[in-house]
Amino acid sequence: MRVLGIETSCDETAAAVLEDGVLRSSVVLSQDAIHRSYGGVVPELASRRHLEVVLPVVENALKDAGVDLPDLDGIAVTSGPGLVGSLLVGLSVAKGFAYAHRLPLVGINHLEGHVFAGFLEEPRPTFPFLALVVSGGHTALYACPEPLAYRLIGQTRDDAAGEAFDKVAKLLGLGYPGGPVIERTARDGDPRAIPFPVAEIRDGAPDFSFSGLKTAVSLFVRRQAPLTPAVVADVSASFQATVCKMLVRKTVGAARRLGIRRILLTGGVAANGVLREQLSAACAERGYAWSAPPLRFCTDNAAMIAAAGAARLARGERADLTLNARATLPLA
Ligand code: KG4
Ligand code: ZN
Repeated sequence: MRVLGIETSCDETAAAVLEDGVLRSSVVLSQDAIHRSYGGVVPELASRRHLEVVLPVVENALKDAGVDLPDLDGIAVTSGPGLVGSLLVGLSVAKGFAYAHRLPLVGINHLEGHVFAGFLEEPRPTFPFLALVVSGGHTALYACPEPLAYRLIGQTRDDAAGEAFDKVAKLLGLGYPGGPVIERTARDGDPRAIPFPVAEIRDGAPDFSFSGLKTAVSLFVRRQAPLTPAVVADVSASFQATVCKMLVRKTVGAARRLGIRRILLTGGVAANGVLREQLSAACAERGYAWSAPPLRFCTDNAAMIAAAGAARLARGERADLTLNARATLPLA
């Protein structure tokens, strides 16, 4: 089965072709340069840029894979959650191609895409596993008992982890996106320099919270201004260590309670080396297996959408042309 995946939920325009589980092409055009000076994604600019580049991105993905539209067995497109104006661009293209070439169409939940990113390369998780999806818009734990089944275990009560990285980077004047630049800056800092608070969820739920940490960083920055480069590195390292500690602690705690011994780390923040190291160490200690996609499949891409689409198309799922964009779309 040859599936074209299209992803335009936020600020990456992406298309990919997957053939019988083998990735034939994956094109990702980032809009980072457009949004950088604003310190975050500007929805209006994002949808306009998608509109300009979506057709060349799809054409390149088809060309790299050496296929034409009529050679496809189906099209998978992200239908939510995300920015509605951005989602609509990918959806319109997918629907147009599906209609013109009489191809099966399927709408994919972006978060399910992030879970499927874990299946693009070895080592692939085996069922049942616990998925920690950490991105710019979401931070959630899902129990995955079997293919295409998800149970929400916990989620953030305020900011997403990636959003916290982006906001703290803005506070420190480091630019956008925050994750990669904080990770780089933190290499020259001491993760124990500043004891930022780790949020305690009082009712014991496996939920996350990052807004208190963000406020603590903001207060520290205001009190210590102007910051020397050495202090900026210490703040970055201490902030990153605190986020990773909370993510790892909650994830292994939930795995223990649920009796699940395999963890999948995925989403943009899963590209973070310190998070991968800390999760790896915590899993080694408890005898848990863990895996995470290679860095290029952690952040938004269409290979993961094609992979989820192939699984759903194989099950006979079909969307009609009323398929619409959904800003919020629960996975479980
Ligand atoms: O999955 P993704 O590309 O888009 C969403 O679905 O949101 O995730 C983007 C987020 C951004 O907030 C970005 O700062 C964060 O992932 N991110 C990182 C790293 N690379 C990207 N966070 C921490 N460390 C990184 N290396
Ligand atoms: Zn994403």
